[in-house]
Amino acid sequence: MIYDNRPIGVFDSGVGGLNFAKEIKRLLPKESIVYFGDTKHLPYGEKSAEAIKKYSKEITQFLISQNCKAILVACNTATANAIEIIKEVAGEEILVVDVINPVAEKVAYELRTKIGVIATKATVNSCAYKKTIRKFNKHIKVVEVATPLLVPIIEEGLYNTNVSRAVLEVYLSNKKLEGIDSIILGCTHYPLIQKEIEQIFEGKVQVINSPLIVVNCLIYQLHQRQQLANNNNPYYLFYLSDYTDNFHKISKRFFGNKIQLQEKDLTNF
Ligand code: DGL
Repeated sequence: MIYDNRPIGVFDSGVGGLNFAKEIKRLLPKESIVYFGDTKHLPYGEKSAEAIKKYSKEITQFLISQNCKAILVACNTATANAIEIIKEVAGEEILVVDVINPVAEKVAYELRTKIGVIATKATVNSCAYKKTIRKFNKHIKVVEVATPLLVPIIEEGLYNTNVSRAVLEVYLSNKKLEGIDSIILGCTHYPLIQKEIEQIFEGKVQVINSPLIVVNCLIYQLHQRQQLANNNNPYYLFYLSDYTDNFHKISKRFFGNKIQLQEKDLTNF
């Protein structure tokens, strides 16, 4: 068996990708992770496609400079708007896995009739989920709803409060979502409010487990390329373009004291 102990690069605009990094650590405990949270430019969901492409390109170059063997684009907004440029910069040698395609393909082959997607404005405007799911199965109805207040609420640490509950009640009562059998949390921040969403739907709507699906896809592809790690002492290096207490708190909660957190501005990188 051949192993590759270089780290997996993971990026997002903020804390959202930590939900996926945590799943990597759970399922692949021998992998090292280099994480980049672009908190300086958050929220990506309100930015132009051009800006999202620029940030994504710079972060990809940075993760390559950190010797990453693979990059998990743990941001739906970056996936929907910048995946081509990310793949171009990464080239053939570095595996790129995104958070939309594995989920869309999986749900398209399951028994579902109407799927709801909640996501940032930039993801909803791209129709990425609808297009990708319907590429595999034209019979599924897909409705996408923008929920732009959720990222700032989560980044401010205001989830599991009256604030998040009230905002979710308004968003999830949107007429378009009537009759859905499942819902995709189309923003990587949203697993942090998954329980609240489940409570509002009273268990009648299945919430798709995107981190599990995506990390399984990553495992499969690393295995195919003989690039899984075999390191009993992996490291977890976190870079933030702008330090936030909330990021520190969540990364510590997910990774314990093993994390190394550093501020890193990619301007002129
Ligand atoms: N977490 C990101 C996503 O999955 C974007 C959040 C934002 O910066 O707007 O879309």
